[in-house]
Amino acid sequence: ADEQTLSGKHVVVTAGGTQEPIDPVRYIANHSSGKMGYAFAQAAVEQGAQVTLITTVDLTPPPFTTVVHVKTAQEMQNALQRYYEAADLVIMAAAVADYRIAEPATQKMKKQQDTTALHLKLVENPDILAELGAQKTHQYLVGFAAETQQLLQHAQVKLEKKQADLLIANDVSQTDIGFGSADNAVTLLFKNEAPVALPKMRKIEVARQVLQMIQLRMEEA
Ligand code: PMT
Repeated sequence: ADEQTLSGKHVVVTAGGTQEPIDPVRYIANHSSGKMGYAFAQAAVEQGAQVTLITTVDLTPPPFTTVVHVKTAQEMQNALQRYYEAADLVIMAAAVADYRIAEPATQKMKKQQDTTALHLKLVENPDILAELGAQKTHQYLVGFAAETQQLLQHAQVKLEKKQADLLIANDVSQTDIGFGSADNAVTLLFKNEAPVALPKMRKIEVARQVLQMIQLRMEEA
């Protein structure tokens, strides 16, 4: 087997969609299954990395992986703050909710007699990727863009605003790629480089190819 290109490196990967509580019974979620993040964790282990997987879902993790379970965006933020300093490479594949319920109810909310409407007040969650970009020292930071339109424009803005080294753009309006699927089709926006569009392939192949391209640039940096 070719030499392991990430041996000795600490790679932190996030996976899955956050779950933002409404009350003890209900929460706001999204369609992320965690497959893309787990694929990056597996590909990083294959390349000899020490992997920490911060996940909201419970798929079968790769061997030798430290798994940290979280549910909300705030819990994910706390976990990343704990591991960021020691990380060489961070891959934010998780689908983090931009909003949470301002004040989750402490008891199950009951239907009201006088109205059929239920109003929920949402407040913004922390932008974890942007925080990591602002705090970046030696780390190589990888973000994603999950868009349904103007994919490359939104991805380019995120690459710059979040101060990432790579932004992986994927169209989540399709059913055969993106959320929940075995395959993905990504466009890679490396800082100061022209976009690279990869053809649709299995998520593990996406992760293997992208990690090789990242590892080459980590060495140059
Ligand atoms: O999990 P799967 O079913 O395999 O699906 C894979 C995927 C489509 C979820 C994955 O490929 C993907 O696109 N993940 C990012 C989803 C997402 O939250 O994208 P976004 O454009 O909303 O966020 C942009 C980036 O900022 C992401 O790296 C996200 O982790 C991060 N973010 C977003 C919001 C927030 N409050 N904090 C963040 O850190």
